[in-house]
Amino acid sequence: GGAAPKQAKKYDYVQVEDYGSSILGRLQDLFKTAISQAYPRFDVPLLLAETPNPQFGDYQCNSAMPIAAKLKSTGVNKKPGDVGQEIFAKLPKSIEFIDKITVMPAGFINIFLNQEYIKKQISNLAANGIQLPKIAKRRVLVDFSSPNIAKEMHVGHLRSTIIGDSICRLLEAVGFDVLRINHIGDWGTQFGMLIAHLYDRFPDFETKMPDISDLQAFYKESKKRFDEDEVFKKRAYECVVKLQSHEKDIVKAWTTICDVSKKYNQIVYNQLDIKIKDVGESFYQDKMIDLVKWIKENKPGQLQEDEGRQIMFPSECEVPLTVVKSDGGFTYDTSDLAALKYRIFEEKCDWAIYVVDAGQSLHLETVFAAGRDFGWYDESVKRIEHVAFGLVLGEDRKKFKTRSGETVRLLDLLSEGVKRASEKLKEKGRDQVMTEEELNEARDAVAFGCVKYADLSHTRTQDYVFSFDRMLDDRGNTAVYLLYAYARIRSIVRTSGIQQEQIAEYIRNTPILPLNHQAEMKLSKHLLKLADCVLQVVDSLMLHQMCDYVYQLATLFHDFYNECYVIEKKEGEAPIVHFHRLALCEVTANVISTCFKILGIREVPKM
Ligand code: ARG
Repeated sequence: GGAAPKQAKKYDYVQVEDYGSSILGRLQDLFKTAISQAYPRFDVPLLLAETPNPQFGDYQCNSAMPIAAKLKSTGVNKKPGDVGQEIFAKLPKSIEFIDKITVMPAGFINIFLNQEYIKKQISNLAANGIQLPKIAKRRVLVDFSSPNIAKEMHVGHLRSTIIGDSICRLLEAVGFDVLRINHIGDWGTQFGMLIAHLYDRFPDFETKMPDISDLQAFYKESKKRFDEDEVFKKRAYECVVKLQSHEKDIVKAWTTICDVSKKYNQIVYNQLDIKIKDVGESFYQDKMIDLVKWIKENKPGQLQEDEGRQIMFPSECEVPLTVVKSDGGFTYDTSDLAALKYRIFEEKCDWAIYVVDAGQSLHLETVFAAGRDFGWYDESVKRIEHVAFGLVLGEDRKKFKTRSGETVRLLDLLSEGVKRASEKLKEKGRDQVMTEEELNEARDAVAFGCVKYADLSHTRTQDYVFSFDRMLDDRGNTAVYLLYAYARIRSIVRTSGIQQEQIAEYIRNTPILPLNHQAEMKLSKHLLKLADCVLQVVDSLMLHQMCDYVYQLATLFHDFYNECYVIEKKEGEAPIVHFHRLALCEVTANVISTCFKILGIREVPKM
């Protein structure tokens, strides 16, 4: 039988310069070459995956069957087993990391890894630290978080923040040049009413930062006045006009409102260790004017009149973009078009990633289609993509809300996480064995780590249920479980009585660690798959694949630790120190730490 194939690459866009310890990546290259030599006219996707059953080796190539089927359709009858043999014949006679390859009569090609090679690779990681695969450097722009000023940041933005930050961390880890961009909604006609309301409620705002603790309520108040009070409405419109003509006082009022909002958001970013640069919609004010001019001059006929509006239908799009409103103003469509143009031509990025909820897919796909129609980019060279995510649901499986049906304030949510994490640690008696400082550090790592991990460990494109109880469970695939596992591994080394320097010296003097026990070998093979995991996630941008990887790693470590003594104590004898196992503990902890960095989880040495 064969395992499900790993997802094929969407683009052959990521150019790997050095696979590092990646085995799957190397195998894929070898088999691609062999298949294209054996069957040069067939462009079949490569099916190559890990095998769950060791009887069939470590990896299996299942491409012979579809090739045989294709041959048949051209009138050639060849058994899959023979196709398998022909592919095998084109492989190099000896491959350093492969022990043997067997071709089954049904066409499956089984690949068995060479154990000495595994040991050598682990010894290398122990001696030189974790090395990630090297990929040709790219300039990537990640548009994430991107809340709206007047309305409060909500859980949807929290997802974008967490996923976007983790994508940035991943791409930074493989050496990309990453622009972390906050496309905040800081522009539009709604600012008229906010400014007018600010003048009434905080007349001294120019000298004193207004104390608006709840911008959401402020927004609601002003909206109510706007809807009910004609005089106020008129003033709000005047404010919009004045803002657009950059009238000093009005700009100051606008800045004030933005600052209040950003100050709040910054607290959330600080707690979650998020770095991001604001380049909001307001940045494109003039660029939108230029854009419309550019379209009219260079792409005549693209814009069409529709009841006073100017709209366009990009190729194969059903819903038009509104580029200019009937009152001459611009829209969300216009700012995204201007942003796309700027990102391609001014920022010169090779890859742009929009981490935005799935509900905006149509909008973004239409904007990208317009960009292609304008000839701004070629899909085979630049990767411009919407990285969509599902909704956050409450435990009732409905849209996540407070009991009274309000949107949940992120700061409140995070404070609750901190409170719950603190209770959890006390419940486990950790306050008895840790200093207050250690306890606080662990509490925050648990609180923020669990919120992030719960989000990242779910398939991005699906909705997920937000549950503190579930995410703070120390069994199962949670941050708490992993943080404990990590701290335990570090403590094995710390309490072994062996100094780091002694371990380092042992590693220096032992070119090949004797990892002969099968639990050591299983753990080692998984450790080497970090490189494959990284390459896969760079392609798919599905962070749950990394969560699954690190969770499985913790589980395999657990098995290893149950079966193998690291320090062996016998009655009346001096304990036996298995140095190579201490080294394996170190490599495992370092791999987990690498994953934590990418997932944005703070590690703590003690829990
Ligand atoms: N501010 C938008 C919202 O809250 C998200 C912006 C996403 N980025 C973009 N370039 N459209 O819905």
